[in-house]
Amino acid sequence: MRLTAIAIALILSAPAQADDSADTFAMMCSACHGEKGGGDGPASASLDPKPAKFNDAAFWKERDDAGVAKIIKEGGAANGKSALMAPFGGTMDDAQITAMVAYLRTLAPSEKAPK
Ligand code: HEC
Repeated sequence: MRLTAIAIALILSAPAQADDSADTFAMMCSACHGEKGGGDGPASASLDPKPAKFNDAAFWKERDDAGVAKIIKEGGAANGKSALMAPFGGTMDDAQITAMVAYLRTLAPSEKAPK
């Protein structure tokens, strides 16, 4: 019985990496960045500057994964951007941040973005 439960838990958790990031994004990022990363979450109306648009090819053209990860970890203020973008290094570890960057890329338009 217990073993079965553990086995099921393992099966359920193993491939969940991308889903985890999607859940985290929905919980911690979408209020500002929008459900689909359009920069149009409910809180965005009152923000200046506006939250980054991850569904915009122009956003990815100017950025690489390392830089995006750095801002998620350290926040905007530490990187010459707005302090409205908080640092998430305290709530997400490096692996989670790497997975988040990969998730954000899935929101981008399908044309190839430089890595
Ligand atoms: C309180 C609103 C808010 C929340 C919540 C928020 N952000 Fe942001 N974020 C912003 C704003 C505003 C900017 C634009 C900062 C600027 O352009 O100066 C930004 C910018 C960014 C950028 C782009 C930085 C760049 O290269 O220009 C990334 C990546 C990012 N956020 C990721 C995230 C992730 C991932 C989460 C959730 C874990 C998150 N944000 C949660 C407001 C928010």
